[in-house]
Amino acid sequence: MAFTIAIDGPAAAGKGTISKAVAAHFGFAHLDTGLLYRAVGAKTLSGTSAIAAAQGLQPEDLENDSLRTPEVAQAASKVAAFPEVRAALVDFQRAFARRAGGAVLDGRDIGTVICPQAEAKLFVTASAEVRAKRRFDELAAKGLADDYEAVLRDVRERDDRDMNRSDAPLKPAADAVLLDTSDLSIDEAVRQAISLISERT
Ligand code: CDP
Ligand code: CDP
Repeated sequence: MAFTIAIDGPAAAGKGTISKAVAAHFGFAHLDTGLLYRAVGAKTLSGTSAIAAAQGLQPEDLENDSLRTPEVAQAASKVAAFPEVRAALVDFQRAFARRAGGAVLDGRDIGTVICPQAEAKLFVTASAEVRAKRRFDELAAKGLADDYEAVLRDVRERDDRDMNRSDAPLKPAADAVLLDTSDLSIDEAVRQAISLISERT
């Protein structure tokens, strides 16, 4: 039976970490939908048009280590504002969500646009400073950042663009449960997410 869990929120809120743990707990498959936009953004950096890149996206395009860089994140949030790019990625995400055995999808518009009928919806947040610190630590460990203030600016700029675009802006679905992870350890955030989802099921 298909069962869909939608996990949305701003950059580096902990969506991916929570989604992976939730998927493992329930035995569901997980899709990080940000990777789709990152893969399209990466192709625009090498000269392909955003719409052509989205329409021609292949599964192997998602398996690229370079998708995690701040440059690709910025490019992703720019291409994500084009309605044609978003439209080209809808069917893949909905098919994934409906798979037998259950699915967890994380992104910006899963609970609002991609899967408005999801059985459980979480909106994960944390302050911009906490999120930037987490993302900075993660990028610095891989040698991909050395300036916290630059990471904070990147996070704020993307949040602004994601919240203010006209097509599928970042916002909680009316029936989403909010989870603020600013003061939570990863273990505590995961525990609360699983308990909130279990209450709804
Ligand atoms: O998927 P999203 O961009 O929302 O965030 P993430 O990749 O899951 O988390 C960003 C970073 O914050 C990772 O390095 C996590 O280990 C860390 N994190 C944390 O320190 N505390 C939490 N409660 C959740 C995530
Ligand atoms: O990991 P982080 O939260 O920093 O970013 P991501 O989830 O990989 O998403 C990168 C960018 O893709 C976001 O800033 C959004 O502009 C876009 N995105 C989107 O528009 N809709 C989604 N469902 C997922 C990502």
